[in-house]
Amino acid sequence: MNVTVIGTGFVGVVTSAVLASFGNTVFGLDVDEKKIALLQHNTVPFYEPDLEELLAEQQASGNLTFTTDYKQAIENADVIMIAVGTPSAADGTADLKFVKMVAESISPYLKNNVVIVVKSTVPPGTLSVIDDIISPLTSASYHLASVPEFLREGSAVQDTVHPDRVVIGANSEHAFAVLSELHLPFKAPIITVKPESAQMGKYTANAYLATRITFINQIANLCEKNGADINEVIKIIGHDKRIGQHYWYPGFGYGGSCFPKDVKELAAYARSVNEEANLMVTINQLNENRIPELLNQYTELVGGWAGKKVAVLGLSFKPNTNDMREAPSTIVIPILQDKGATVVGYDPKAIPEARVMIASHPNVSFTEDISESVANADVIIALIEWPEITSFDFTSAKTSGKKQIFIDARNQHNQSQLEAAGYTYIGIGR
Ligand code: UDX
Repeated sequence: MNVTVIGTGFVGVVTSAVLASFGNTVFGLDVDEKKIALLQHNTVPFYEPDLEELLAEQQASGNLTFTTDYKQAIENADVIMIAVGTPSAADGTADLKFVKMVAESISPYLKNNVVIVVKSTVPPGTLSVIDDIISPLTSASYHLASVPEFLREGSAVQDTVHPDRVVIGANSEHAFAVLSELHLPFKAPIITVKPESAQMGKYTANAYLATRITFINQIANLCEKNGADINEVIKIIGHDKRIGQHYWYPGFGYGGSCFPKDVKELAAYARSVNEEANLMVTINQLNENRIPELLNQYTELVGGWAGKKVAVLGLSFKPNTNDMREAPSTIVIPILQDKGATVVGYDPKAIPEARVMIASHPNVSFTEDISESVANADVIIALIEWPEITSFDFTSAKTSGKKQIFIDARNQHNQSQLEAAGYTYIGIGR
């Protein structure tokens, strides 16, 4: 099939490369000439495992072409996928300006019976907004659909090749038929639904996972008050088949490009349809309060932050990505600055991004050498579970004779080993 994916951000690049690998002829289209030039040379402007290799392979095979030329990319397309950003507007709603611009730009070149798919996360009702833009601008017949994306950063290629499910939201049999055929090689259950259900399904999945994380963080707070261990509590509840063992680990709250944004958007959507009393508002608030509250809670234990050297390990929002959007480090480091600490941040991939995202300050430095970060630190905060951090030999790195506090923000490290090495260990919910 001829497929054009518009928007060469995270979802767009991964989707175009994977669809090409299944034998489709794919155009990746963007108005950003610099980005397209990089992609044409197999350079991905962000870090994602396996992606550059796949890109190189598919461009060499001739199945995948990156371009800025709308006419070239649209006039033969059987399927057009819109995968542009939907940033949050000031009131928390999704800003659809890029989706609308794309709808307008593709209209003059549409071929008959093309299926236009929205992959971006958008509120229910967005297909009629797009329809209103396209219909006066073309005489071609077209079909609209919503196919939300559920991939995770850091494992995006694997998640896209092996999705848990493919959701096709449409009101047209032709759209269901074409998109079912396109997604057949994914060998995943295909769920055909109304567009509004597809859009609500995407928000609901992310809002539920964010709620689950917030819930376990709240339970962790209670465990800290009574001597229970959150890991043991999770083991107990996880054996209940209705609950399960996965996706529960407590920490400094959820971050990234999706959960914080989607929770806020769902709350804003609820307000816009007069559903004021909304759980999502509370989830968002609890998550935003979490890091400041934890750092305050630790103040006494560390003997006040002023003048302390703090090693912040892990600056990206999760392992295997250099994405720093809503990363815990972007909240932790400015708070420590304000409290007068000296911070040495470590990350295996995100240092260039950290220099942009975190305001420069005489007491904040970054290093790609974890030993340098932890050397002589008063406090080590293991913020993100990068393998380079979880496998690091903190025992050998211990500065002898010095009181050093180890904050295990993800409960990933061995408490008794660290204590035997002389660290004062602080975990979450234990
Ligand atoms: C998420 C969804 O998982 C994905 O389906 C959707 O398409 C986009 O949003 P992503 O943001 O890449 O993916 O990361 P994910 O691994 O889900 O983690 C999100 C945040 O939750 C991270 O800050 C992570 O540290 C945190 N988290 C995750 C927890 O605190 N505890 C957990 O048990 C799991």
